[in-house]
Amino acid sequence: MNSRTSFAETATSEISIQQALNHWQKHIEQLLTQSLPDEHIEPKKLHRAMRYAALNGGKRIRPLLVYLTGQALGAQLKDLDAAALAVECIHCYSLVHDDLPAMDDDDLRRGKATCHIAFDEATAILAGDALHTYAFEILTNAELSEQARPQQTAMISLLAKASGSLGMGGGQAIDLESTNSVISLETLENMHRMKTGALIKASVLLGAMMAGNIKPAHHQALSQYADAIGLAFQVKDDILDIESDTETLGKPQGSDQENDKNTYPALLGLEGSKQKLQDLLQLALQALQQLPYNSDPLAQLAQYIINRQH
Ligand code: IPE
Ligand code: IPE
Ligand code: MG
Ligand code: MG
Ligand code: MG
Repeated sequence: MNSRTSFAETATSEISIQQALNHWQKHIEQLLTQSLPDEHIEPKKLHRAMRYAALNGGKRIRPLLVYLTGQALGAQLKDLDAAALAVECIHCYSLVHDDLPAMDDDDLRRGKATCHIAFDEATAILAGDALHTYAFEILTNAELSEQARPQQTAMISLLAKASGSLGMGGGQAIDLESTNSVISLETLENMHRMKTGALIKASVLLGAMMAGNIKPAHHQALSQYADAIGLAFQVKDDILDIESDTETLGKPQGSDQENDKNTYPALLGLEGSKQKLQDLLQLALQALQQLPYNSDPLAQLAQYIINRQH
């Protein structure tokens, strides 16, 4: 798919998930580049750190979920751009804070020095804070189409809840509290659903909400899909921490073991974790079958999430 391919064409043509990923990666990279405060604006160091943390080659899976879901349901590109930017800013903030010495204390992210190493700890904390609030600025100020506008407040609320103490932030708190102790599978699953699943689910639901009102049954099916891939994403992340290598991952392999983290492989073993991934994939695919849209790209994305190498 080249950059001249229209939005409608990208939805209907036979493209591989890798092509879609490449296309939307470029698209979101451009949007972020244009949208984030320029590094020549004061406070320059903070703006440099924000851009460093956001413009550094992430996979952009959450924006991809926004776009693929929105396309399937007939949302408009301009509306999806706002949601994609907002979720990616929240995600980038979460990574900057996750790597801090007080959290996972990691020095490599997306193949480069982590934000607190490239700058300093205080700047990294502030860059994370500023990316966090910037997400809500984007979603609040977005001039949405008539189709999406009635849901604007609901979308802001959804993203806030997914990011806060009942979502990503809360999951990170459970992760830290439970480090160095053994927790039950139930607690582990809840932690993963919160720290990673919540933002992935929000990406799917924001994409859907940009298309206007959807039927409760379709919302439920999309939620089931998003729940399954959200958990699968972190199970796979845990497996990669063991099986991959630092160069491929772009972040330190073995970080979980070094920090004595609770992970799926630690509780279920590698084989048990891989079986869990297959079960979650089946759940995700079953959910998509209940939808009267072309959900092939979302099915391919679920496969990509469980088969990815980084
Ligand atoms: C890593 O997320 C952190 C988790 C929530 C597991 P990604 O694997 O999406 O990281 P990037 O954005 O591609 O760097
Ligand atoms: C982080 O989980 C989830 C976030 C909310 C950032 P991890 O700590 O496993 O993520 P990585 O492996 O550092 O990317
Ligand atoms: Mg962590
Ligand atoms: Mg980490
Ligand atoms: Mg990890």
